[in-house]
Amino acid sequence: MRCRFRRLNYILLLSIYLFLFYQIYNINPILRNSQSPFTLIHYQNNTYRILSSSFTYNYRGSYLNFAYFNVEQRNRVLYIDFLYDIPVSSQWQPDGHLYPIQIAQYGLSHWSRLEQNLKNQQNKIYKFERLQPKENNHCSSWHTIKDEISLSNTYVHFTITPNSSLHFHFLNNNIQLVYSTKTIHDLETLTKKIIPLKGSPRQVNRHMLIDIEKLMRKTLFFRHDFIKIQICGDTQSSVDQLIIGNQTLYDQQAFYSATRWLLNNQDLQTGCWFIHVQRNYAHHTHYHLRNPWCSAMAQGQAASLLVRLSSLTNNNEHLLAIRRAIQPLWSSNLTRAYFKNRFLWLEEYPLELATKGLFVLNGCLYALIGIIDANTIDYQPYLSELINQIIISLQHILPYYIHPNISSWSLYDLSHITMRSKLNTASYSYHLAHITLLQCLRQIFKKINDSVSQLFDFYIQRFTSAIL
Ligand SMILES: *[C@@H]1O[C@H](CO)[C@@H](O)[C@H](O)[C@H]1NC(C)=O
Ligand SMILES: *[C@@H]1O[C@H](CO)[C@@H](O)[C@H](O)[C@H]1NC(C)=O
Ligand SMILES: *[C@@H]1O[C@H](CO)[C@@H](O)[C@H](O)[C@H]1NC(C)=O
Ligand SMILES: *[C@@H]1O[C@H](CO)[C@@H](O)[C@H](O)[C@H]1NC(C)=O
Ligand SMILES: *[C@@H]1O[C@H](CO)[C@@H](O)[C@H](O)[C@H]1NC(C)=O
Ligand SMILES: *[C@@H]1O[C@H](CO)[C@@H](O)[C@H](O)[C@H]1NC(C)=O
Repeated sequence: MRCRFRRLNYILLLSIYLFLFYQIYNINPILRNSQSPFTLIHYQNNTYRILSSSFTYNYRGSYLNFAYFNVEQRNRVLYIDFLYDIPVSSQWQPDGHLYPIQIAQYGLSHWSRLEQNLKNQQNKIYKFERLQPKENNHCSSWHTIKDEISLSNTYVHFTITPNSSLHFHFLNNNIQLVYSTKTIHDLETLTKKIIPLKGSPRQVNRHMLIDIEKLMRKTLFFRHDFIKIQICGDTQSSVDQLIIGNQTLYDQQAFYSATRWLLNNQDLQTGCWFIHVQRNYAHHTHYHLRNPWCSAMAQGQAASLLVRLSSLTNNNEHLLAIRRAIQPLWSSNLTRAYFKNRFLWLEEYPLELATKGLFVLNGCLYALIGIIDANTIDYQPYLSELINQIIISLQHILPYYIHPNISSWSLYDLSHITMRSKLNTASYSYHLAHITLLQCLRQIFKKINDSVSQLFDFYIQRFTSAIL
């Protein structure tokens, strides 16, 4: 009797112990991954990343979790521009436009990947010094790469002369991809796709897989392939320094392409990268965005990108571009709205009616990080003042982003208050973006002002409790 009782006790204790052990191990993935700067979240076939306690933010380092963004692969990217090698957005304008937020994100993701590449082993790289056609108006013979290569590694880099075309034949997929600086008489067919390179002679930096899939509007069936290469043109034609598979080089050049476009397309007077797409917000036909509009999020992310450029170059022109980028955030109402006529907010989508606001949460937080980055390398009292004002606003406004009906979930904006529309619940990915942004700010303020850091911590705890 006693003996059996003891055994029962033992089993009971063991079960409690196992139960606790299981709980500790399962509840807290942050503990498990304490080495990695990111905590992985698996949800519906996708892997997302929020920040972990070992993530540290600085103005030269990775930008949040953007190393894991693949901007060019997004559906909203129509294709990669043929002159600037930057993404063309189809958002709100199906035939495409250059959207500064997307371009800044493209630059920031490639910058962040450079840091990642240092840790990961690079793939095999193939090089051809110089390719030329055999005779006038003819093609070279085919150059073959012996290995079967992964299409995810088809980063290609070369310099090409005018009136030339460089042909890549993908054998398994039976696709021919042509980069051409000729006036094109060739016909595209189902298996032949042509990229009309502009601005020749020039250096080209492309990801062939993206080019093919964007042009064909479908994903390729074979993910590994054999490649043959050929150049066509007159006797002057040549392709120099053809490199296939150097991801670091691709990321570097993509970073520079984004910064180059931003530096060349900033409105010098206002500092804005104006967006000329006509747009209503969501279903509000009577609330138009300003036209053209200046987005606080674009200004902030572009500033964060140019701060990283400036950390490499120390070029005064780049510093001036950063000052101009931040200018519309503090010196005018171009990107502002006031909550309850009192609390300053930086608008991702400023409305025509200056008295109305949308208060998109992620846009304002990205803008804030841009201001902090700028103020770190180029301290200005008026920027510190602006940062304080936004913190005070967040103290008052953050409570309104807690979803009234879904426990510990967040709202995307406050249009239900300012425009009496229905609740704009954050999607899963925006809810995670809110957490990531707040985690980044918590970390930044940890050293500066602990009470501000605790403010962010409160919402991080709350919002993560809904997903972990
Ligand atoms: C996840 O992937 C499986 C298999 O590909 C698919 O059947 C399922 O619909 C996907 N689930 C979601 C939520 O996308
Ligand atoms: C390219 O070809 C066209 C037509 O043959 C010719 O007029 C032009 O001069 C060529 N350009 C260069 C840079 O060779
Ligand atoms: C790849 O490109 C980077 C950047 O230009 C360069 O530093 C590196 O040496 C290249 N790797 C190889 C294996 O050529
Ligand atoms: C912005 O608008 C607010 C509120 O309408 C006003 O008090 C302020 O003077 C304006 N600021 C600038 C720089 O125009
Ligand atoms: C939220 O809950 C309130 C009260 O329970 C209800 O009246 C309202 O319709 C709900 N809103 C949504 C968007 O579900
Ligand atoms: C921290 O920030 C809060 C809110 O902006 C402010 O009231 C407080 O004075 C700051 N504390 C320090 C030590 O700067």
